Amino acid sequence: MKQPQVVLELEQIAVAPLEQGRGIGEALIRKSLPDIAVQLAERGATLDAVLISTRTDNRAQRLYRKALGAEVGATIPSLYSADEVIMVARDPLRSNYTPSDARNASRLNQPSRPRACGRGR
Ligand SMILES: CC(C)(COP(=O)(O)OP(=O)(O)OC[C@H]1O[C@@H](n2cnc3c(N)ncnc32)[C@H](O)[C@@H]1OP(=O)(O)O)[C@@H](O)C(=O)NCCC(=O)NCCS
Repeated sequence: MKQPQVVLELEQIAVAPLEQGRGIGEALIRKSLPDIAVQLAERGATLDAVLISTRTDNRAQRLYRKALGAEVGATIPSLYSADEVIMVARDPLRSNYTPSDARNASRLNQPSRPRACGRGR
């Protein structure tokens, strides 16, 4: 029987303002992916793609390109509060998790308020 292939949506990600730009967002994504793959494998499924939507002017697009290999699949004018891009990462597990990511992730000690990637903004 063919394994179910899962498409996940990255719904919310945020790093505390004072900690932004230090690689923590990238580390969060890279560190999460292998864990997600394990959880899916336990259910007999594989990760096929990750979808992200964000405003066209959000610099987070660069993060999604770097950490996931995501590309803009579509631009939707005037959705929610502004024009929105839908990004698709078709091979999200290709990037390798590195020790520097672990150091960055372990520095997280304060919860920050997550911001929706898409809906509600
Ligand atoms: C988007 C966010 C989670 C990225 O986390 P981060 O820890 O600042 O990102 P990183 O340090 O890992 O940076 C990864 C890349 O993202 C880019 N980037 C994305 N958002 C950025 C921001 N607000 N400030 C600076 N760089 C940002 C950087 O250019 C960086 O690439 P580079 O190192 O090649 O220049 C964080 O900036 C944030 O919480 N922003 C506000 C909430 C938000 O917009 N969330 C996304 C909704 S779709």
